[in-house]
Amino acid sequence: MAGQLLQIARRLDACRKFRVREEPGAVVLELEQVKGVRYTANKPVNVSSVPQRSPFRYPGGKTWLVPYIRDWLRAKSKRPTRLIEPFAGGAIVSLTTAFERLAKHVVFAELDEGVASVWRVVLNGQAEWLARQILNFDLTYEHVRTVLDHPAGNLREKAFQTILRNRVQRGGIMAAGAGLVKAGEKGRGLKSRWYPETLARRIREINRLKDRLTFVDSDGFALIEEHKADEDTVFYIDPPYTLAARRLYTKWQIDHTRLFAAMRGVKGDFLMSYDNTVEVVELARKYGFETRAIAMKNTHHAKMTELLIGQDLSWLHVD
Ligand SMILES: C[S@@+](CC[C@H](N)C(=O)[O-])C[C@H]1O[C@@H](n2cnc3c(N)ncnc32)[C@H](O)[C@@H]1O
Repeated sequence: MAGQLLQIARRLDACRKFRVREEPGAVVLELEQVKGVRYTANKPVNVSSVPQRSPFRYPGGKTWLVPYIRDWLRAKSKRPTRLIEPFAGGAIVSLTTAFERLAKHVVFAELDEGVASVWRVVLNGQAEWLARQILNFDLTYEHVRTVLDHPAGNLREKAFQTILRNRVQRGGIMAAGAGLVKAGEKGRGLKSRWYPETLARRIREINRLKDRLTFVDSDGFALIEEHKADEDTVFYIDPPYTLAARRLYTKWQIDHTRLFAAMRGVKGDFLMSYDNTVEVVELARKYGFETRAIAMKNTHHAKMTELLIGQDLSWLHVD
C-alpha cells in the first residue's frame, strides 16, 4: 500500500494538472502528464515543449536535453537517492530533476562567483528579496550601466547584478568582453530578454523546492570525489566545452582527461554531454564508455550534433 501511494505521489508530482472526481464506489484521480517529447537521432528536440525553469538564459544551456534526462532517470529500477550536477551553470537538469522528483535529492555546484551568488541567494532565504528587486527595477540604459559598472556590495546585490548581466548581455554571455544586447527581439533592445514577472515566478518556485536542492559553490571535481562511492547517486556532467568555452564562461578551463578518469571511478551511473569531436570520442573509447551522437540546435539555431557519453546507454531509444 505504502509503495503504491508513493508511486501515485511521484506521478502526481510529474503531472501538469490533476483532477479528483467521485464515482460510485471510487474516487478517481485524473492526471494530465507533462507533454511527452518525441525525438529522433537527426531531428533536434523542440525546446518550446520543455518547461523552462531556470532564471538564467545560459550559454550552452541544456533545456533541449531534458526529455533525454527524463528517459535516463525513469529507466532506472529505483529512483536515485541523489543527482549530482558538478558543472551546473543555469542548472536546468538539476531543477527539472527536483521539480519532477526524478531523484530524491539534488546537489549542484558552480565555480563562477556571479552564478553561484544567484543559487545561494535563491536557496538560502533571500529569494523574495531578489524577486522583488527584479520586479521593481526600471530597466533603462543608465540604470543598467549603474548596476553593472559598480562592484556589488553584498551577496544579494551580486545575485541581482548577475541576473541583470545575463539578461542584457549578448547571448547571455557573462564572460568579460561580452557587449550589451542592441536591437534585440522585435526591436525591444535592452529589454528584449527582460521578463520580470517570469523571472520572479521562477525564483519563487525554485525557492519552494529548497528542501530538495543543495547548492555548493565548490569545485565540481571535489563534488564528484565526495560522492564517487555512492551507488545510488547519479551524475549529470556538462563541463565547459573544448571549443567555445573560453568565449562563453569565466571558468572555462578544465582537465578533460582528469574528468574522464574521475568518472571511471564512480560507483553510480552518469551521463555526460560533450561536443562531438574526434578527441572526445577517442577519450570516451579509451575509458571504455559508450557514446551516441544526437541532434541539437545551437543558440544560432544551426543544427549540430552533441555527444552523449555513459557506461551504458541502452536506455537511449531514438527513432
Ligand atoms: C556547459 S556549462 C553548464 C551549462 C548547464 N548544463 C546549463 O544547462 O545551464 C559549464 C559550467 O561549468 C562551470 N565550471 C567550470 N569549471 C568548473 C569547476 N571546476 N567546478 C564547477 N563548475 C565549473 C562553468 O562556469 C560553466 O557555468
